[in-house]
Amino acid sequence: MPGIIVVGTQWGDEGKGKAVDALGESVDYVVRYSGGNNAGHTVVVNDQKFIMHLLPAGVLSKTATTVIGNGVVIDLEVLYHELDGLATRGTVVDHPLISANAHIIAPYHQTLDKVTERFAGKKRIGTTGRGIGPTYSDKINRIGLRVADLLDADLLREKVAASLEQKNQLLVKLYNRREIEAEQIVEQLLGYAERIRPHVVDAARVLNDALDEGKVVLFEGAQAHHLDIDHGTYPYVTSSNPTAGGACTGTGVGPTRIDRVIGIAKAYTTRVGEGPFPTELFDADGERLRTEGGEYGATTGRPRRCGWFDAPVVEVAATVNGCTDIFLTKLDILSGWEKIPVCVGYDINGERSEVFPMTQSQLAIATPVYEYLPGWSEDISAARSFADLPVNCRDYVKRLEELIGCRISGIGVGPARDQVVLINDLV
Ligand code: IMP
Repeated sequence: MPGIIVVGTQWGDEGKGKAVDALGESVDYVVRYSGGNNAGHTVVVNDQKFIMHLLPAGVLSKTATTVIGNGVVIDLEVLYHELDGLATRGTVVDHPLISANAHIIAPYHQTLDKVTERFAGKKRIGTTGRGIGPTYSDKINRIGLRVADLLDADLLREKVAASLEQKNQLLVKLYNRREIEAEQIVEQLLGYAERIRPHVVDAARVLNDALDEGKVVLFEGAQAHHLDIDHGTYPYVTSSNPTAGGACTGTGVGPTRIDRVIGIAKAYTTRVGEGPFPTELFDADGERLRTEGGEYGATTGRPRRCGWFDAPVVEVAATVNGCTDIFLTKLDILSGWEKIPVCVGYDINGERSEVFPMTQSQLAIATPVYEYLPGWSEDISAARSFADLPVNCRDYVKRLEELIGCRISGIGVGPARDQVVLINDLV
């Protein structure tokens, strides 16, 4: 079962890092395929908390080779900061492989991200401010910088100058900012050239060869289905394709090589940044989920918006991503509620819908229809098998499974590596 994709089914922060970690040492390659350092995976190993933004969470596996695919946008400073940070804590990632075609986040992309958000005022997206959108815009506009360009100073100089031509006009004339000097950017980027050189590979070739040899390749999604530029709650989305299809375009591996797609769903729902969120809670219940779930952004520290589990949100994600399994995370956070509301559909202008709304206008007025499931009071953090869970908790899981239409194969019952209930093998 060599090609496995792990994908978020809500608005990110589902705890994908934990699910990846549960796949353990059986993985030979762990690959990121989209996004950049807007992500934030938290993994706890031996009571040490690791937060990674650019490197995949699977980097902590002692046996797997880390790969950054062409679909990723790379902030070189962050990349080396993370690698050095891991090394000082005893985890040396001596050979992350980096696609020659991955795009580079230059300092001007971050500047543009911040000024455009400020300029948008109330219409802002609530981006992470890491330069993600402007870097992907340049990629699509064919004025981006790629990793391989770092190895050719003349070409890099040419590309930076071309990219800045229009941006400087924008910065000075529209945003009232200072012009950015091309040569300064070039020097800064070239500072990383020698360090990155040995890591630059034809990642598509490496991964296809690995799959030919029967190696297990894990494609680790960042962000999530509903933040996808095509399938998410546009325009309140990120600028890439975190959905399963993105694993193919973002690495150069064909769809026939994918054997399994594991969707990660939190037992309730959270979102950071702006945008629609039908089950969002603005009361003490929301505050309780935030506090007990530690729902603060791993990247920006922003408090996450919290709400009840929204079944159509996960159902559409499971369908579009072709999920074979669901890994349900943070179920332990739901212990202690008398009744747990689960959204099973919406009321849209007096009409009942059981599926996620098709249009932005419908979504804006969709109010959730809840089913109230009986809660449980027991602490479930020591459960290691499905039978260890209290009956109401098992029923909660079974009802979600029914609503999502996909089997739940794993459950997270606490932050530590071993706090997992495995129902079906994930590899
Ligand atoms: P950007 O990716 O920084 O452009 O941000 C676009 C939207 O995606 C914002 O609402 C962010 O809060 C959200 N976002 C981006 N990355 C993540 C993530 O890893 N988890 C959750 N939300 C994210």
